[in-house]
Amino acid sequence: TWNMSSFVENSIRQLKEKIGDKKVLCALSGGVDSSVAAVMINKAVGKQLTCIFVDHGLLRKNEADEVEEIFTNQFDINLIRVNAQERFYEKLAGVTDPERKRKIIGEEFIRVFEEEAKKIGKVDYLVQGTIYPDIIESGVGQSGVIKSHHNVGGLPDYVDFKEIIEPLRDLFKDEVRKAGLELGIPEKLVFRQPFPGPGLAVRIIGDITPQKVKILQEADYIYREEIAKAGLDKHISQYFAVLTNIRSVGVTNDERTYDYTVALRAVKTIDFMTAEYVELPWEVLGLVSKRIINEVDHVNRVCYDITGKPPATIEWE
Ligand code: XMP
Repeated sequence: TWNMSSFVENSIRQLKEKIGDKKVLCALSGGVDSSVAAVMINKAVGKQLTCIFVDHGLLRKNEADEVEEIFTNQFDINLIRVNAQERFYEKLAGVTDPERKRKIIGEEFIRVFEEEAKKIGKVDYLVQGTIYPDIIESGVGQSGVIKSHHNVGGLPDYVDFKEIIEPLRDLFKDEVRKAGLELGIPEKLVFRQPFPGPGLAVRIIGDITPQKVKILQEADYIYREEIAKAGLDKHISQYFAVLTNIRSVGVTNDERTYDYTVALRAVKTIDFMTAEYVELPWEVLGLVSKRIINEVDHVNRVCYDITGKPPATIEWE
């Protein structure tokens, strides 16, 4: 019978045979998928693998440092970190259309990646952490594209390599996590919630500015901190803050304010193709709201999203 430990063992063996003494390149996002893919390849061929990690300035608070720490200190994987925040902010300035934002980030990501890959020279294989739901939702084999996922089907034209390797393409998210545990990846990373390739860009409605990114990072950090403190993090599939493009009137210390509304979202799902909103305790929501209002400048209102998927998607864009 099929089980995860033999899947991982077989995958590593097959990867080793296939790759031989050739060079492999991986676009590491810091999410569960690309991390599991990278560690799997690392187990198969060690330092023949180089990972490129692009900080596009749309990651969660402290995330880039955490990724660097885990991969260089815990795993001893060849890692190149590119700090490309400014480039992405420039390209995104003034852009409000969700699909355009996704396209711009996807294309810029490829450009940055390509530049770094050139410095390494010719590689034979390119690894991607594509998983089964990515393929379905990107519209492969169906007529209607729901959202363009920048991590599917983009890189091949731009980087000089022989073949693409997608070791997780048959797995659902829960299976990827099991594979991660089998590979000895720390729980902290394995149970990290999924994070979209375009990052906070799809959680900032309207145009993106460094200031909005900062606001969202701080609000999201508080939300995640309180969810963890309440012991709820293991029971929710995905939870995050969204910076709506709405500003409304408020009052702080007898002063009129005209500031942003933050929306909180928490969903439970098995395969991320459908999802239900989570009934978070009022005390937790109240505390998060109070902290966000008190600690994050330019936010004067917090709402909770009680919509399932369908009809809403999990992300707001
Ligand atoms: P939606 O918003 O489509 O999200 O219901 C389903 C799941 O996919 C994640 N997501 C992405 N993941 N690249 C990714 O790797 C993307 O472009 C992307 N867009 C959405 C989302 O966070 C959720 O887990």
